[in-house]
Amino acid sequence: MNRSYRLDDGRQTLVLSAHANRLPVVTYWGPTLPETDDPADLHAATIIDVTGGMLDEHIDLSICPEASRSFPGQPGLVVRDTDGTPLLPKFCFASEDYEGGLTLSYNDAENGLTLTVTFTVDTETHIITCQTTLDASRPVHLHWLAAPVLPAPQLSEDMIDVSGRWCGEFQLSRTAWSPGMRYRENRTGRTGHEHFPGLIVPCRGATNTQGEAYAFHYGWSGGHRMLAEELPDGRRQIQWGHAAGTESDAQTQFKTAPLYITYSKTGLNGCAVAFQRHLRDRIVTWPKPDAPRPVHYNCWEAVYFDHKLPVLKDIAERAAKLGAERFVLDDGWFGHREDDTRSLSDWTIDPRKYPDGLTPLIDHVKSLGMTFGLWFEPEMINPDSDTHRANPHWALGSEDQTLGRQQKALDMSLQEVRDFLYDRISAILRDNDIDYIKWDHNRVLPMPDAAQTRGSYALIDRLRADFPYVEIESCASGGGRIDFGIMQRTQRVWLSDSNDALERLRIQHDAALFLPLAVTGSHVGPRRCHTSGRVLDISFRAWVAAQRHMGFEMDPRELDDREAAILTEVTAWWKRNRHWMQTADILRLDSADSAVIAEQQMARDQSRFVVFAGKAATSMQIAPRPLRLTGLIPAEMYRIDLINRSSAPALSRGTPALKSQVMDLSGAYLMHHGVTLPWSFPERMWVVEGIKI
Ligand code: DGJ
Repeated sequence: MNRSYRLDDGRQTLVLSAHANRLPVVTYWGPTLPETDDPADLHAATIIDVTGGMLDEHIDLSICPEASRSFPGQPGLVVRDTDGTPLLPKFCFASEDYEGGLTLSYNDAENGLTLTVTFTVDTETHIITCQTTLDASRPVHLHWLAAPVLPAPQLSEDMIDVSGRWCGEFQLSRTAWSPGMRYRENRTGRTGHEHFPGLIVPCRGATNTQGEAYAFHYGWSGGHRMLAEELPDGRRQIQWGHAAGTESDAQTQFKTAPLYITYSKTGLNGCAVAFQRHLRDRIVTWPKPDAPRPVHYNCWEAVYFDHKLPVLKDIAERAAKLGAERFVLDDGWFGHREDDTRSLSDWTIDPRKYPDGLTPLIDHVKSLGMTFGLWFEPEMINPDSDTHRANPHWALGSEDQTLGRQQKALDMSLQEVRDFLYDRISAILRDNDIDYIKWDHNRVLPMPDAAQTRGSYALIDRLRADFPYVEIESCASGGGRIDFGIMQRTQRVWLSDSNDALERLRIQHDAALFLPLAVTGSHVGPRRCHTSGRVLDISFRAWVAAQRHMGFEMDPRELDDREAAILTEVTAWWKRNRHWMQTADILRLDSADSAVIAEQQMARDQSRFVVFAGKAATSMQIAPRPLRLTGLIPAEMYRIDLINRSSAPALSRGTPALKSQVMDLSGAYLMHHGVTLPWSFPERMWVVEGIKI
């Protein structure tokens, strides 16, 4: 007898079927199938022919391909007995359960192993969450355990995964499919700038706005392995799991992180919107779900380690006047932190900088109508710190390890380390009126270790349980720790240390494949960017920050009157619109001009939108190309307005209608012809508001 299971979320169907008692195979994953399709028929219909020079049947590409069954590719499980003997299980059906999702269990009696997979569908976000657990009757050593293994479409030329670097996060790499595999393994011990755990497999011809695509995200902060393999027979498999060999102890249970998957027939945007909504509405827990996201001010790039109370008070006043609602005191307030060579882990307020503690600054900030946030880097320790001198064994890694930013990581698997950090951080939170932590993590680990990540999660979970109204921002030299695992415990990410609006425009655009506005911090940086040296006009800097969760990070004392006026105006615009933008879908537009990076933020009720068209470079052609919108109702009329038309330069000499008036145009026209914008310099942003009439 064959067993079949069908999952539906109104947009996609996933069918699993198993021959007799074997592990099941995903026999179908794609747009919703009619109810009339019988899963047993699908199983039969999917059997592939055999020919000469091969085995007598195709070995199942199951949810955990077994090395013991002549599978021609990478197995989903590599496990050893404590004496090092490889275990080669053959799993056999044990149980099935549809309660709260689909749970399937399989036993291997000979080796005393049980494999359990779960699939949960979400009919609103269209994300399917799946996870694998391995139980053993005695402790065993795990090398590799894949979350449920999925097929990739064969009508796909290439795959898109995500790499990056400090100040250059979310770079999309396209790799052509070919026999063999694309194998990515992050062995840094944190999610990393280099390895955001996401993959999109577009079917042939898919773009941002059209076509079919499959997408994957592995929700784990400790480093992952991804493999995308084309088997000799042409089938393709996608595997995700923790970086291999990161479970150092023999154990009786191992679990992958949740793997989030989705199918879209509305291009890459269909995947992006599913991830954005799922992250915002299901993964993040908001202390005040209905509260507007406050405009941030962060003092890092204004003062660095040079904390002087009168200066900080002055800066706070100016920031509040510009529209800031939360003041974040960054690195430098504790120990003897004169620079980044010392004091990490000495989490007591520096009495030389703050003789009366943080209260005078916090009171001042609160009197200006702002709340107060504070920077920590809990998992780290400088050798030059009192804590290290007292507890050198708390540091992870060998004596002769290479330091990162002059620091080591603490061993978060140790309860005493977590207790120490909890005591220090909770004392500060209890004694001060703080509603926000910027939680940094500025170096990679000396070696990857899953227990480290579990330790970090446990500390954050304990603090959150005791201080439920404190929000946390995940930072790791910018966007080095962004994934759904950390986002289950935090509310914001510091997407990049680059405040260069030109670089940010691109980073934000590509990060929107996974991240919504509500969690994505974006700050107006200094006039001359500290990480690129580029000088950009305040208007461009302000609009790029206004695309996401807005904030400022420059020294407001550098702003002249014009700059302050523009920043105040854009911030006020953001505050007027955030009530709908913070739940809007970010749709990436297919720009006909490669110099233009454009997106459309669409309100959840579809009644309004805003288009941000950023000119990232000088166009090759002389005149602007029309910019096609997306996701509109063809027969509806929309009133569109170029709200910053006054910033058209004198070299824009013509008469495009939007330069002088609002326009009423149909969804069909806007999507198939597109908006005709005025000519502009590079490093400028056009902002177009649209309302369904
Ligand atoms: C790295 C972060 O990305 C910066 O924003 C800042 O918080 C520094 N660390 C402080 O040391």
